[in-house]
Amino acid sequence: MKVLEAKFVEGFMRMANDGWEQGWHERNGGNLSYRIKPEEVDSVKEEFVAGDWREIGTEVKDLAGEYFLVTGSGKYFRNVIIDPTDSIGIIEVDETGSKYRIVWGFVNGGRPTSELPSHLMNLEVCKKRDAEIRVVYHCHPTNVIALTYVLPLEDEIFTREIWEMATECPIVFSKGIGVVPWMVPGGRDIAVATSEIMATKDVAVWAHHGMFVCGTDFDIAFGLMHTVEKAAEVLVKVLSMTNKKRQTIQPDEFRALNAPFGVQINEECLYEKKSDIIGER
Ligand code: 13P
Ligand code: ZN
Repeated sequence: MKVLEAKFVEGFMRMANDGWEQGWHERNGGNLSYRIKPEEVDSVKEEFVAGDWREIGTEVKDLAGEYFLVTGSGKYFRNVIIDPTDSIGIIEVDETGSKYRIVWGFVNGGRPTSELPSHLMNLEVCKKRDAEIRVVYHCHPTNVIALTYVLPLEDEIFTREIWEMATECPIVFSKGIGVVPWMVPGGRDIAVATSEIMATKDVAVWAHHGMFVCGTDFDIAFGLMHTVEKAAEVLVKVLSMTNKKRQTIQPDEFRALNAPFGVQINEECLYEKKSDIIGER
């Protein structure tokens, strides 16, 4: 089968375009990766042509020998559906987990996203906790970014304020959100900081930059990004009217969601508040 005819490639491209249509991918902002299933690799590998091995910039031993579909560095999400072979590519990770080579795509001399260290380290820690997690997605959603200027950059507070904006939030991401302070993007340090969060949580916010999520498929990962950003939009609207809440969802009300929805909402985020000012504990 041709790579562009494969279902996982169609799903990847659709998700990239959905993100573009949401306004989360100005210019070349954001990147997407998918850890390809062995049977999917087999179905398209007749089209692979291996390039030279290059350094990843970090080590991902538990992903040795695996293949990934990734967006290209400097490529625009809005171009993925009209020019996929230029915008996206498939890479193979070597047996040491420290090098990769392009086997398909990036036809005009492109290379994988500059956030490849973050994507691969996230995919590695996610695989350890759930082998079904295959998608890692980074974008620049307006409202989440705006909140990183006004909320404390603390996991529990950031999570709690977002959770209170929509009942579905603690059900969809019950472990909460981790926050990475401002860091230089594109390297190993920010990848390590993000993967420490992704080892237990599905959502990591990069202060004054954007957000990372993971998921078992494209719908789950995109839906998670959408859910967090929607709640962030509600919070931005609330904050535009007042810095205090008249009423909100209470800790015991969150706990009441556990049994009916089969989740275990992170208790660390269900602290008793001493203040009704948004962002204060
Ligand atoms: P790339 O174009 O290299 O993927 O970078 C975009 C981005 O969002 C960096 O954080
Ligand atoms: Zn970015």
